[in-house]
Amino acid sequence: MTETTRTRVAIIGAGPAGLLLSHLLAEAGIDSIVIDQRTRDEIEHTIRAGILEQGTVEVLRESGASDRVLTVGSRHEGIELRFAGEGHRIDFESLVGRSVWLYPQHEVLKDLIAARIAAGQDLRFGVTATRVDGAGTDRPSIVATDAGGREFVIEAEFVVGADGSRSVARAAVTGSATGGYFREYPFAWFGILCEAPPSSDELIYSNSPDGFALISQRSATIQRMYLQCDPELDPNSMSDRQIWDDLQSRVDGHTLIEGPIFQRDVLRFRSFVAHELLRGRVALIGDAAHTVPPTGAKGMNLAVADVVLLDRALRALLLDDDSRLLEAFPETALRRIWKAQHFSWWMTSMLHSTPDASDFDRLRQLGELRSVVESEAGSRYLAEAYTGWPLAGR
Ligand code: PHB
Repeated sequence: MTETTRTRVAIIGAGPAGLLLSHLLAEAGIDSIVIDQRTRDEIEHTIRAGILEQGTVEVLRESGASDRVLTVGSRHEGIELRFAGEGHRIDFESLVGRSVWLYPQHEVLKDLIAARIAAGQDLRFGVTATRVDGAGTDRPSIVATDAGGREFVIEAEFVVGADGSRSVARAAVTGSATGGYFREYPFAWFGILCEAPPSSDELIYSNSPDGFALISQRSATIQRMYLQCDPELDPNSMSDRQIWDDLQSRVDGHTLIEGPIFQRDVLRFRSFVAHELLRGRVALIGDAAHTVPPTGAKGMNLAVADVVLLDRALRALLLDDDSRLLEAFPETALRRIWKAQHFSWWMTSMLHSTPDASDFDRLRQLGELRSVVESEAGSRYLAEAYTGWPLAGR
């Protein structure tokens, strides 16, 4: 017989969205179960992006989910936009009085997992959700199989799909595994990790005739850098020398400090928003609900913004029997999601070269970059969006 476990909120996905939601719900005394098909080690060691908006940092710190973000992470008060051989600083502090933190996503995950385990959270790794049932009822459920292949059911008052871009929960909400608005880009990022000191105090986003490059960081001794590339590029087809030459030529006028490259990966570029975020008592958050290209550094921050909204809505529903915030959740969440979609698309299209770009397109793009860096209004929009719009209720 299939075993059934009961909880108040059943969450698929132990990424930033699912873990943070369980953490905030627990603060309000709402029990949850979080399942993820990956192992803890896999979750804690997958390399992802590294920029946290100020509001994301505040939520992590004030909820007790992470203090290390302030001690290990580093505050960045601006970025450099580079084009035509010159760098232009966008000073977030003077433009909008806000900043961002460089703190890699897998560090956030380590903190969240440690905090949840210390608090006695029912958190199960190696558990695969196969489907979500009963979205339109008061007892939605997740059908899952454990690491030993045994099927079981988690029945809850609410089910959350925080299960990433290949979400299993999405079918229960949108009626199909893929249903959503979708855009693909004709390029990708080739990312590297290298052993070297930082090449710059702040991140450099560079538009060059050979394509985009991003100079980011991880620590005093490890750096993260990206090159625009063909989505089909085999990351092992380039020698270290070719990579450094390419990076260097794309940040023309700024000298990079080289070091041994110890990791390479190719990141595909996609924009996606699910057609629906809520059906009955099942909601989608994080990458299950939307994907953005990494140029605006919005992915994890958007997941945190979803969580802040859904946490408030679930507290009202489950503690006060008030469903109004939940009914408003999709529309409220989508306003921010589409703003972040626009910003991520805009940063991407302003900074990358497309294979079929004409001379007109390239010169127009330089005009666009100058409209941003030579105008306080232009720079301020970038600063406002990059550091993050205010979060609900804060
Ligand atoms: C990163 O450090 O991995 C990173 C930083 C900024 C981005 C994307 C990725 O926009």
